[in-house]
Amino acid sequence: MFVSHLECTACGLRHESSRLLNVCLSCGKPLFAIVDLDRARGTLTRETLGNREKSLWRYREVLPLPGNVEPISLGEGGTPLLRAEKFGDDVDLWIKDESLNPTQSFKARGMSVAVSMAKHLGATKLAAPSAGNAGGALAAYAARAGLEAHIFMPRDTPRANIIECREMGAHVTLMNGLITDCGAEIARRKTKEGWFDVSTLKEPYRVEGKKTLGYELAEQLNWELPDAVLYPTGGGTGLIGMWKAFDEMQVLGWIGTKRPRMFAVQATGCAPIVRAFETGEKTAGEFPNAQTIASGLRVPKAIGDFLILNILRQSDGGVTAVDDEEMIRVSREVGSSEGLFVCPEGAACFAALKSLRAEGKIVSGERVVIFNTGSGIKYLDCYSAQ
Ligand SMILES: Cc1ncc(COP(=O)(O)O)c(C=O)c1O
Ligand SMILES: [Zn+2]
Repeated sequence: MFVSHLECTACGLRHESSRLLNVCLSCGKPLFAIVDLDRARGTLTRETLGNREKSLWRYREVLPLPGNVEPISLGEGGTPLLRAEKFGDDVDLWIKDESLNPTQSFKARGMSVAVSMAKHLGATKLAAPSAGNAGGALAAYAARAGLEAHIFMPRDTPRANIIECREMGAHVTLMNGLITDCGAEIARRKTKEGWFDVSTLKEPYRVEGKKTLGYELAEQLNWELPDAVLYPTGGGTGLIGMWKAFDEMQVLGWIGTKRPRMFAVQATGCAPIVRAFETGEKTAGEFPNAQTIASGLRVPKAIGDFLILNILRQSDGGVTAVDDEEMIRVSREVGSSEGLFVCPEGAACFAALKSLRAEGKIVSGERVVIFNTGSGIKYLDCYSAQ
């Protein structure tokens, strides 16, 4: 573990990494863990990775948690990167299938690292608002760690997510409203209840877990990043984490300066980042009346909005919004052509590929990676059994 300190992503203020912290103590924006890569390089090389365990803890030197502390792990990470057989058409399409993680979504990556660190730094009760999958992952890792999990979810969260949280011993509260309302409820009660808030980007370590998406991608593509990445964006942790990983890997000497064009895919019914990108804003206003079956994309306001927008512009990428009917339709197309029952958030990226291809923003022969962030199995309520 070679994290030297925490740094504010907005004002740059340094914070100690030995304390349980949420956001910047001065401006309230997300904190990043800064890794001393010169020291990490001593034992972590591209070659030594070959002999390590498959889970994301294979990148131990660039993750937080002291070397002598056992991580809270259920075998997260190390998911397959599959070549699309048919769906890609004339594009060299790859699918990072995150549905193979514990609790069937990529949220396991962030929660393994965040729960490990929260426990290490003394937290006993963890709280998070969740659109569904993050709650399931928090419930699992908190159970494994012997910590309490307090999960607040919108009442219309997929049933599977609600049930899995309860079955893993979490305290579940269903709320009328959206994930932002759930977050506000936690903020109101956390001091009195003694909860440590592990909301997306409101503590520094979920993004560290998510950054391993970027490390794995590079490793699986033999250290040559793709031309474009399509990512279903809610809070944006994966996108932000991958971008951090790319910069770290460049300092480590593992990759060059090439970066993929990063595309944020959202739902037409909740597209704050799409709107802000298109109108040239630096931050995204709250999206009114947010509605979509892709519960992970039903995030009307993201604390990391400025980071997401920066990455999309810096990478010369962009945005696409997809409506719910199209997600369901494309989900069946992907299922029957590739053998994957993708989540609606993943399906949105496959639909986005078609429109980006039609708009000429992705061209023939380019290497594209789509993140299927979870399994369709959690969303049975959205599909007809006919
Ligand atoms: C399946 C799925 N995809 C995508 C997302 C959005 O993730 P992020 O917060 O990293 O943008 C979520 C978040 O809940 C999700 O559950
Ligand atoms: Zn700050």
